[in-house]
Amino acid sequence: MTNRTFTMIKPDAVENGHIGAILEKINSAGFKIIAMKLTVLSLEKAQNFYKEHNERPFFNELVTFMSRGAIVAAILEKDNAVEDFRELIGSTNPSEAKEGTIRNLFATSMGENAVHGSDSDENAMIEGAFHFSNEEILS
Ligand code: RTP
Ligand code: MG
Repeated sequence: MTNRTFTMIKPDAVENGHIGAILEKINSAGFKIIAMKLTVLSLEKAQNFYKEHNERPFFNELVTFMSRGAIVAAILEKDNAVEDFRELIGSTNPSEAKEGTIRNLFATSMGENAVHGSDSDENAMIEGAFHFSNEEILS
């Protein structure tokens, strides 16, 4: 499992027409897509997905944002996937994200920051299973 991570292209990036460009960055960086879907998170699902943040001041803003429109969810495979993907997406705050990172190129603000990336192997597994059944994951 240590070579997998989970990502979402968030509603801001979908609304702004960036699905194709973001998938291109993901492919160019050497990640293989082994599961993918275009879907909408209900408010309840967004609250559940981000439950570790439920005490944070930005929680309501975050879950309202994440449930307002379509997202693309995907499981990605690559050596050192979690760490390398966090490097590819850049800092949470796009004004601090390095040049050429996905958030530097496509995020609009700290809250609306274009993509999600798992922060650990354990969370990558939990988050992948949250969105995909075993039959939806290529092996
Ligand atoms: P993510 O989980 O979405 O990949 O983002 P991350 O690890 O870089 O950041 P995290 O601390 O896990 O925060 C989750 C998401 O909450 C929103 N956020 N808004 N307004 C704010 O101060 C604020 N801080 C965080 C962002 O959408 C962030 O990605
Ligand atoms: Mg996070």
